[in-house]
Amino acid sequence: MNELRHIAIIMDGNGRWAKKQGFAKRVKGHEEGAKRVREITIFASNYGVKYLTLYAFSTENWKRPKYEIDFLMKLMDIYLKNELKLFLENEVRFETIGDLSKLPSNLRDRIAYTKEQTASFTGLTQVLAINYGSRDEIIRAVRRAKEAGVELTEENMNDFLDTAGMPDVDMLIRTGGEQRLSNFLLWQSAYSELFFTPTLWPDFTPKELEGMIDKFNKIERRFGGVKDE
Ligand code: IPE
Ligand code: IPE
Ligand code: MG
Repeated sequence: MNELRHIAIIMDGNGRWAKKQGFAKRVKGHEEGAKRVREITIFASNYGVKYLTLYAFSTENWKRPKYEIDFLMKLMDIYLKNELKLFLENEVRFETIGDLSKLPSNLRDRIAYTKEQTASFTGLTQVLAINYGSRDEIIRAVRRAKEAGVELTEENMNDFLDTAGMPDVDMLIRTGGEQRLSNFLLWQSAYSELFFTPTLWPDFTPKELEGMIDKFNKIERRFGGVKDE
């Protein structure tokens, strides 16, 4: 068994799922994908995971058509509105990483409200990565440290990242078949175990996640050291 504190997921394949199902619009896949977020969150919470970080919108996703961007912003607002009940019932704390300053103000308000309502919970923290890019995060961290007059070290770097206070990523999962990180948690996943699955995000199930966790538990994590004698 390995200690499993932090799972991060690149939820990819929504557009392809919609196409495969015969929907005219890619965004149908985003709508279906939001339902999986709920199921995976409940599973992670029951499993005793401390942090579940989900890539919802990257700094590069602004390149998408305006219609799709607007849809995603609205979907995140609706998602958070509906999910508050789930957070309260399961005592899940809500957090975000990424630069929120570029988001519509109604979504920013909803995020702030959801954080406030769930701030005292100590079980699972669900972290949504919104307008998140690892390079952007690292640059902002360096700036913050400079402003504070702090010399950065490997030990204090995380204090200046958006993930301040969170443990490094133990398992990094990408659905949708691509084997790349797309600017996600580059610093925090230096020693993550990587899992890639062809399953499109709207088809991903807690059962598949459970199978990955079983594999994770069998891995010998050495962190550069040698196997215990
Ligand atoms: C991931 O699904 C969700 C977001 C990036 C918001 P995609 O929309 O990238 O779906 P594919 O990869 O085109 O199938
Ligand atoms: C990564 O998926 C971002 C999210 C899942 C939010 P993309 O579909 O945007 O990534 P690329 O373009 O395939 O690398
Ligand atoms: Mg994609």
